Amino acid sequence: MKATVIAPSNIAFIKYWGKRDEKLRLPANGSISMNLSNLTTITTVEFNSKLHQDDIIVDGLKEVKQVERIIEHLNRVRKLAKTKVYAKVFSENNFPQSTGLSSSASGFAALTLAAVSALGLKLSEKELTILSRQASGSACRSIPDGFVEWLAGTDNSDSYAHSLYPPEFWDIVDIVAIVGNVKKTVATTQGQKYALTSPFFETRLKNLPERISEFKKFLKEKNFSKFGGIIEREALEMHAIILTSVPPVLYWLPETVLLMLQVRKWRNQGLEVYFSINTGHDLHLLCQEKHKDTLFKLIKKLDIVQNVIINKPAIGARLTNQHLF
Ligand code: PMV
Repeated sequence: MKATVIAPSNIAFIKYWGKRDEKLRLPANGSISMNLSNLTTITTVEFNSKLHQDDIIVDGLKEVKQVERIIEHLNRVRKLAKTKVYAKVFSENNFPQSTGLSSSASGFAALTLAAVSALGLKLSEKELTILSRQASGSACRSIPDGFVEWLAGTDNSDSYAHSLYPPEFWDIVDIVAIVGNVKKTVATTQGQKYALTSPFFETRLKNLPERISEFKKFLKEKNFSKFGGIIEREALEMHAIILTSVPPVLYWLPETVLLMLQVRKWRNQGLEVYFSINTGHDLHLLCQEKHKDTLFKLIKKLDIVQNVIINKPAIGARLTNQHLF
């Protein structure tokens, strides 16, 4: 059977950075994110007994960097379904890979639901998040709808993601500003391993439970100023850990910093916008719907910004009939 899934990428407001268990991808802390409407992966999977190996094409290419990780994940799903049949996998991203826009979140969420559905397995949403977490931690947050919390848990069965609110809960906007097109030199999986070597990592872990409960309160109240203050601090704190790991990693470009400073300038002038950033150089600029057009025009005027992608909160991974083959 064939199944096709569209899955969104997500932006973490409370970041997942550092693991307690490498193999199971158990995170050191819980995290909270929002699915993004215009950063998506579409994936078709078909298991076929005539195949002698998995046949994987991502963005039109057979030489895929992630191929081993994809096969490893197909093996997890095959094990669950008690089958040895190989699969044909076609996957397309509508945004660049390896630049910090979290294509592994949308990619592995789409692969999980497509592979499980193609084999006719019936898994609950919670089970799907547990399964996708093992391929890429942040992928578990791309399965449920809207604003999503991933609970750190204590073992494989209780480290899962669930929806806090549906997408229509809050009409905030995430404008991705692309400021460069170089690929990152240190993969996120590698950077995650270094996290624990930062002298500040333990302090971060100690402070996080309080920050998470404050953040959930501000999200519930739709208090944009407090919400924005926390997401910006979170993004900078994650990079403080990244910059002080052994070896230290620097994901930013000069343009990244210029745009961060510009965001603060806009804020001082009364335009409420906050930034977040993952392991790359491009920024996510968050504002309320009422400021979207003004902000969009201002960003478009900046020489340092090459492209913008406007996102609204989105639903999670879902099946579609638009098969890629
Ligand atoms: O799931 P991974 O291994 O790609 O890690 C994601 C890490 C960040 O994007 C930097 C933060 C997050 O919580 O999404």
